[in-house]
Amino acid sequence: MMSDGPKTHASRQALDYVKDGMVLGLGSGSTAEIFIELLGIRVAAGLKVQGIPTSDQTKEAAREAGIELLTIEHADRIDLTVDGADEIGPNFALIKGGGGRLLREKIIANASDLMVVIADESKLVETLGAYPLPVEVDPFGFSITAKKVFDVLKNKWSAPPEVKLRHEKNSTRPFLTDGGHYILDCACGAIKNPAKTATQLCAVPGVVEHGLFIDLARVVIIGDDNGAQILER
Ligand code: A5P
Repeated sequence: MMSDGPKTHASRQALDYVKDGMVLGLGSGSTAEIFIELLGIRVAAGLKVQGIPTSDQTKEAAREAGIELLTIEHADRIDLTVDGADEIGPNFALIKGGGGRLLREKIIANASDLMVVIADESKLVETLGAYPLPVEVDPFGFSITAKKVFDVLKNKWSAPPEVKLRHEKNSTRPFLTDGGHYILDCACGAIKNPAKTATQLCAVPGVVEHGLFIDLARVVIIGDDNGAQILER
């Protein structure tokens, strides 16, 4: 049973954006899973929605919650995506991918009419970058790609960035995304111009996607101990 904390307050508030008949992008991470659980309760009470999961883990959570699933190939539209974030900066620029699901999360958020981000207060920041930026890369030539990613990030800030290959927990095996790619976690300090950094990272061969979500979220719901606050732009 979920606790009634900040993530639950944000998730419950996000249900107000869900209408009967919608096709929903279902995000990944602990906050998104709380949303999915709450959505399942509404579905059991008669709400009709179809969900497109952003990860295999979310697919399982949605199945358990009794939410009808749809593959992205069979969706003619996505009305709303509700997802978490690792950092939320000015203009709702986000860092995502802490759970390694950023590629599918971005494809689905970008295809959605509306993206709503749910989070607790700790995710709100004045400048992105305290959280290491996840960059998804093809395993082929990943160490060369890592050097190029380092080059993109190195001249911008005083301390040189740390670009680390993510591993499975307690293992020497590289972490593999649902799409079979690697993740580079890039501790680079303040990202002063996220849009420019995003463009430069996309230009590196071998980079499949990066965790900067620019101009995608329109609504951010921040939960705290007492309730939730809706921010819109
Ligand atoms: C998954 O890849 C991430 O983008 C998540 O959205 C992010 O890590 C937020 O997760 P929590 O809700 O668990 O903090």
